[in-house]
Amino acid sequence: MNIDVFFTPLQVQDELSLQNKTVLVVDVLRASTTIATALKNGARVIIPAASVESAVKYASTLEEGSFLLCGERGGEIIDGFHLGNSPLEYTEEKVKGKTLIYASTNGSIAITKTKYAKYSLIVGFVNISEAVKFASENGNDVLILCSGKLNRFCIEDAVCGGMITFLLTKGKSKKNLNLSDSAIAALKLYKTYKKNLLKMLGESEHGKFLISLGFEEDLKIASSVDSIPILPIYSDGVIKAR
Ligand code: MLT
Repeated sequence: MNIDVFFTPLQVQDELSLQNKTVLVVDVLRASTTIATALKNGARVIIPAASVESAVKYASTLEEGSFLLCGERGGEIIDGFHLGNSPLEYTEEKVKGKTLIYASTNGSIAITKTKYAKYSLIVGFVNISEAVKFASENGNDVLILCSGKLNRFCIEDAVCGGMITFLLTKGKSKKNLNLSDSAIAALKLYKTYKKNLLKMLGESEHGKFLISLGFEEDLKIASSVDSIPILPIYSDGVIKAR
């Protein structure tokens, strides 16, 4: 198994090259965490939109009351949308049985870039073991695609990518594994921060930004390993729980 890590979605130059790969899309703060929460609480399906405009356009094709427009710009709810991007908003009462059209700044874009992947899984700390189990069992080459922040590196996705690499390789013979330099770097970062993931989130650029907006609780939710054992899979334009 080859394991590679892209630190930003910009590195996906050729979407068709993902055809034979299992891609694990990571956006710890907060798309992966929020999507897992929404599916746990009964959302029927989530449609990631690469822009606010395309989300609104898609919504205009659906029956009023059947969908929720969700997402953020600058961390906050988009004008006219039903929900922002805090996992705390995605309660069973609000999302059960609904189609969610979801436009976040970085996560949605990363996800839509994986439409040709053999499998595209949405992963954060909250559901990491579910994703690793699936990727290990199917045995394809793995690409960990970090959503980053505005096409730049972000530490929380890199550390999560390192933890995925650690779990995928744990106890396996090195003979059958080939880690790219970026996977080795992510693994080292994970080893540096693994003792206190919440502290790492609190010190990250995006973590500090979210705290400044009043979303400190979201960091606690996002740092809680395996607290939401749901595996969101993106296929044919929609995200569903496996
Ligand atoms: C994103 O996709 O950019 C993030 O989920 C932003 C956020 O924290 O709301």
